[in-house]
Amino acid sequence: MRLFIGISGASGSIYGGRLLRALAGGGHEVSACFSTAAVEVVRHEEFDSGLKLLGAPADQVLEAFFSRHGILPRQLEVILPDNIGHAFSSGSSLVEAAVICPCSMSTIASIAAGISSNLIQRVADVMLKESRPLVVVPRETPLSEIQLRNLYVIKKAGAQVVAAMPAFYHNPQTIEEMADFIVGKVLDVLGIDHGLFRRWEGW
Ligand SMILES: Cc1cc2nc3c(=O)[nH]c(=O)nc-3n(C[C@H](O)[C@H](O)[C@H](O)COP(=O)(O)O)c2cc1C
Repeated sequence: MRLFIGISGASGSIYGGRLLRALAGGGHEVSACFSTAAVEVVRHEEFDSGLKLLGAPADQVLEAFFSRHGILPRQLEVILPDNIGHAFSSGSSLVEAAVICPCSMSTIASIAAGISSNLIQRVADVMLKESRPLVVVPRETPLSEIQLRNLYVIKKAGAQVVAAMPAFYHNPQTIEEMADFIVGKVLDVLGIDHGLFRRWEGW
């Protein structure tokens, strides 16, 4: 599958890392785009409160991020968020599905308003106008009325909203297992087979 993965500046960069790991190792054609805010969140969430990579350039932060999540650079294309001239900016490109994981409320608001101020938002706009799969993984709590309305708007417009709400009935033992539950739900929506969590089989 040819996939665009947007990683925005919501907390939970581990969700993006685990998603990229699952897809890049699974024979898919994956393009990843980190927003400017996402790079800062990665810097602080993944590396000792950012101390190790404080002041490091974005490509160094992402290199460390990929290494941490066991992703080989050759397994994916990394696109800069201001590369609005990328092929995926156009509905004529054949990206099959897009996922924004995690997805900030700011990016949700832009999608709901039809604003494309970076490549992540533009790809989301394209997917909706072309009626192709768009999955967003929002992470925020509590949610304001504005945020709830924006989520409703994009759901009505055709996006799938897979909220970053991990379950506990499969007894996760690590943060990675908790994140993989959400990643597995994203893959379920896309129809991609996985073994990321144990499914509920009844009492
Ligand atoms: C440490 C940190 C954590 C954040 N967590 C969230 C979050 O969970 N949800 C959210 O909507 N925004 C969060 N933000 C704010 C976004 O990063 C901010 O709104 C940014 O402008 C989003 O830009 P983007 O959507 O282009 O990535 C966080 C910011 C920082 C620095």
